[in-house]
Amino acid sequence: MNMHPSDMKLTNARRGADWWHGGVIYQIYPRSFQDSNGDGIGDLKGICQRLPYIQSLGVDAIWISPFFKSPMKDFGYDVSDYRDVDPMFGTLADFDAMLEEAHNLGIRVMIDLVMSHTSNQHPWFSESRKTRDNPKSDWYVWADPQLDGTPPNNWLSIFGGSAWQWDSRRLQYYLHNFLSSQPDLNFHNSEVQDALLDMARFWLDRGVDGFRLDTINFYFHDARLRSNPPLPPEARNASIAPMVNPYNHQDHLYSKNQPENLAFLERLRALTDEYEGRACLGEVGDAQRGLEIMAQYTEGESRMHMCYAFEFLESRPATTEVFKAVFDKLTTEAADAWPCWAFSNHDVKRHVSRWNLSAEAARLYPVLMMCLRGSACLYQGEELGLPEGDVAFEDLQDPYGIEFWPEFKGRDGCRTPLPWVTQAENAGFGDGKAWLPVDPAQAAMAVDRQEADPDAMLHHYRRLIALRQDHRALAQGDMTNMSVSGNVLSFERSIDAEWVFCAFNIGDTTAQVRTPDGDWNIASDSLGLMAPDGGALTLPGWGMTILKKAGG
Ligand code: BGC
Ligand code: MG
Repeated sequence: MNMHPSDMKLTNARRGADWWHGGVIYQIYPRSFQDSNGDGIGDLKGICQRLPYIQSLGVDAIWISPFFKSPMKDFGYDVSDYRDVDPMFGTLADFDAMLEEAHNLGIRVMIDLVMSHTSNQHPWFSESRKTRDNPKSDWYVWADPQLDGTPPNNWLSIFGGSAWQWDSRRLQYYLHNFLSSQPDLNFHNSEVQDALLDMARFWLDRGVDGFRLDTINFYFHDARLRSNPPLPPEARNASIAPMVNPYNHQDHLYSKNQPENLAFLERLRALTDEYEGRACLGEVGDAQRGLEIMAQYTEGESRMHMCYAFEFLESRPATTEVFKAVFDKLTTEAADAWPCWAFSNHDVKRHVSRWNLSAEAARLYPVLMMCLRGSACLYQGEELGLPEGDVAFEDLQDPYGIEFWPEFKGRDGCRTPLPWVTQAENAGFGDGKAWLPVDPAQAAMAVDRQEADPDAMLHHYRRLIALRQDHRALAQGDMTNMSVSGNVLSFERSIDAEWVFCAFNIGDTTAQVRTPDGDWNIASDSLGLMAPDGGALTLPGWGMTILKKAGG
């Protein structure tokens, strides 16, 4: 067992090896977090400067979106060197310094490994594409055209068009589930697996606490390259791609979710388990069988620790019925699965705008998230209650948005620079012109203003994270008796002798709630929770309560 380099220094509530289990993870999109050198792009030194702020939130860990060498066609999700930092973000020494400082402050660090594909600028691809018989010729997914010259099958790229790109050197097509500049690696080749695991070891040796694993269910494709069947319109949903994207017209039986993946995930887990206290969070993007795959991938102790779920990232409002349906499905089909929930991230419209939340509703949802069984990811700026940033077509950067504009505006609106100081230039993000415009509406909600106002959303998030950290039942307990009555969602969480009852009024009208038998007290005085009166309580519109059983 390799001890964690700075285990002794981790002082946060959950210092044990299972910190991830119910942990609260803060996602940093490095380009937009804090720019330290005035080039308009956030960087690792910027993150390092802001670690005390992150510590003040009370989270267990940060997940940093990719900062590796990249031509940035997909803003870092197209890696050209897995073992180096892109100069725009800094150097490996900057990374090490940031990691050490994070550990000093009791913050674990997860990095984002994009293993399903590389950039077309990666030396592996440059070699692979040269000939059909070089040592790396089989490292990517190459296939001959059909007789009429068209691609080998009907697979579609999420970012638009066929998933196959013609290459005039090899006179073959290569597979890309995302941009054509993001060729898919061929996981059926064990040398590819070995090279990726070596790379993961490189970062484990540097001391990272875990990985967020990009598009983990895309690693393998059907070796026979069978075409996907069509999906009937009524079965489509917008959980991983907007409705205007024809990617939703297929049932992705063959282009992803292949059974061979399980053995690879076990190799990755075995590697991670050589080190103490590290965790794997796999992103499972599937519109039809996300929870099913999550159950497979998190089963037992030999695969992923947790899977990142898309269930609450959709544009449909997160109603009582949606929560109930998701947890019912988990209970019946995936009782042992360990989800990691998110409402916002760098790929979707910020949830305050996506669900068009009132001020009260915006306060309820994060409290609810902290009460759900599973781990939780918060996205930078969410703690400020930021709405989606406004980005004009001329300022768009995201190729996905440029492709599907105007029905789908892409992902720039959730990636605008984080506002730190309302009155400062670029709202304190940095001295130079930022890569995406600073939104004035967001600047008005900057950290400095909220620090000064005890009622601000920022303090609300600090309190609700603290509530979660103070109650093991909320972080790691069982979840039982979920029920819906009108607009009220209620459930219980319990572990050992600790019992917690939660009820949320997801609607505008007042509702009465019966508390379960027993003597219950309010779990926090600072979140605006409603106190019980005998065996009942009244929840105004968007009111909520969290009660602790006396004697627990
Ligand atoms: C990431 C995206 C990225 C895609 C391709 C994802 O799911 O979160 O930002 O574009 O994978 O790597
Ligand atoms: Mg910079």
